[in-house]
Order: sequence, then C-alpha cells, then structure tokens
Amino acid sequence: MTDHLIVSDENTMRVIRLRRPEKKNAITHDMYRRMSDAIDTAQNNPDIRCIIITGGSGVFTAGNDIEDFLKDSTSNTDAPRISNAVKFLYSLAHNVKPIIAAVDGVAIGIGTTMLFHCDYVLASTTATFSTPFIHLGLVPEGASSLLMPRSMGHQRAFATLVMGRTMTADDAHLAGFVNVVVAPGHTEAEARKVAREICALPAEAVAISRKLLKLPPEDLARRIDQESHLFGERMRSNEAIAAFKAFFTRKKG
Ligand code: COA
Repeated sequence: MTDHLIVSDENTMRVIRLRRPEKKNAITHDMYRRMSDAIDTAQNNPDIRCIIITGGSGVFTAGNDIEDFLKDSTSNTDAPRISNAVKFLYSLAHNVKPIIAAVDGVAIGIGTTMLFHCDYVLASTTATFSTPFIHLGLVPEGASSLLMPRSMGHQRAFATLVMGRTMTADDAHLAGFVNVVVAPGHTEAEARKVAREICALPAEAVAISRKLLKLPPEDLARRIDQESHLFGERMRSNEAIAAFKAFFTRKKG
C-alpha cells in the first residue's frame, strides 16, 4: 500500500509530508490519524523543537478527501471522518511546538484552515488558499470561524469563509497569515531554514512566548466542537451530498 503520509525526524525538527500527489494530497481518515499522532508524540519529546508540515512541490492539499465525505455522509453509522479530522484539529489546538507550513500550490479547505494554527507560513508564488465549504453545502471548521476573522479581519474572513473566494499568495501575504512568498519548489528548503532559526532559540522561552500569543486550547477546542457539530449535520444534508456527487460526475463529463 502506498504511504500517503511520511513523518521523519531530522535533528530537532519533525517533518510531516503529505504524499498523495495523484489525488492532490486530499486527506483521508488514515492521513488525519497519522498527522494527529505525529503532532501528539512530539509534545513531550524534548528532542523535537519544531514541526514542519509540507505537501512537497506543486500542491499542498486539496483538503478532505471528498470520497470519504460522500461515504460518511451516506453511512448510517457515526462518521469516522468526524473523529479522525476532529482529532487532528484537537492535536493542532493543543500543540505546544512551533509549526511551520510550506505551501506550494493549492491549499483547500482544511489545507487553509490548518494554517491558522501554524506559527510561520511560507507560500510559493503559485500557492492559492480557499475554503469552498459553502459550495459543498458545508460550514467552516478547524476553529477557522474564530481564528480567521481574528487574524485578517471580519470582511476578509467573510469573503473567504462564507463567499468561498480564493486568495492568491500575495493576497494571503497582505492578509497577514503568510509570512513570506518564495519561488515554486523552494518552500520546503526555506521552511527548513526557518525551522533551524527557531530551533536555535532558547526552547523554554520560545514555548512560554508562543503560549502568550495563542488563544487558550480550551477556547479553540470549544469552537472546534461547535463547528464540528454543525459540520456533521451539514454533511448529511441534501445540499452537501449533491455537491460531493457533483465533484465526481464533473470528472466524468
Ligand atoms: N478528494 C478526493 N479526490 C480529489 C480531491 C479531493 N478533495 N481533490 C482532487 N481529487 C482527485 C480528483 O478526483 C482527481 O482524481 P482522478 O484523477 O482519479 O479523477 C485527481 O485528484 C486530480 O484532480 P483534478 O480535479 O483532475 O485536478 P485539477 O488540477 O483539475 O484540479 C483541484 C485540482 C484541487 C482544484 C480540484 O481537484 C478540486 O477542486 N478538488 C476539490 C477540492 C475541495 O473541494 N476539497 C474539499 C474542501 S472542504
């Protein structure tokens, strides 16, 4: 079976790499679970000082696997997507290690919302950011309804989260959630440089300072729960099921 997620420790950094390029790095249940484990197991490991999340060159991620969405929305049992994706979001909310994201290409849905939990974001000039929840009949997730307006103001958050508009790398840089825009194919190398810079700083002082900047994990978890409840309801709506099916029939047309 192909490994769609690679986790490697390189000196003091843990690199989490999405590797499902044939599906634009769309995230499956298993990938969520393993990303979550990679973050959780770094928490009490003093050797890991920094985490990098990357999609490699050309694509960050097309978001949640829509086939999984469709299966979960039409199954009669509790949707496993809810538990795996939400577990990953909890891991992000409770994480205490600096996270750097390297975004080369599309960052869709959770590919964008996870960035608001990260501490430093690099994007290539070809990166785009979108949360097309509305087009899928869904609602925001990942505490994005809390973090996005806080980070870039209500109006920009509305255009992105509620209207489903796409942002370019320059838009995202201007909006403030991308630190730096680099040439395509260079995000990961640049992320490593940033990671080395952070790893060279006094670890305890970094952890305390970072905590001061972040919202308390309980606040994030509360919003994740609120959103997940609504998201779960919306996933089973006729609007959402029709949109999931339309994605795949689009391919056949
Ligand atoms: N879930 C499942 N499969 C996906 C996917 C997703 N989120 N995104 C892309 N794929 C698959 C496509 O079905 C296609 O598979 P196939 O080759 O077996 O038919 C393959 O990845 C390549 O995608 P394709 O659409 O042909 O590439 P593209 O360059 O024309 O477009 C995207 C790329 C990412 C813009 C487009 O695939 C897309 O919009 N994906 C859906 C994004 C989305 O709505 N995510 C959910 C957010 S909540």
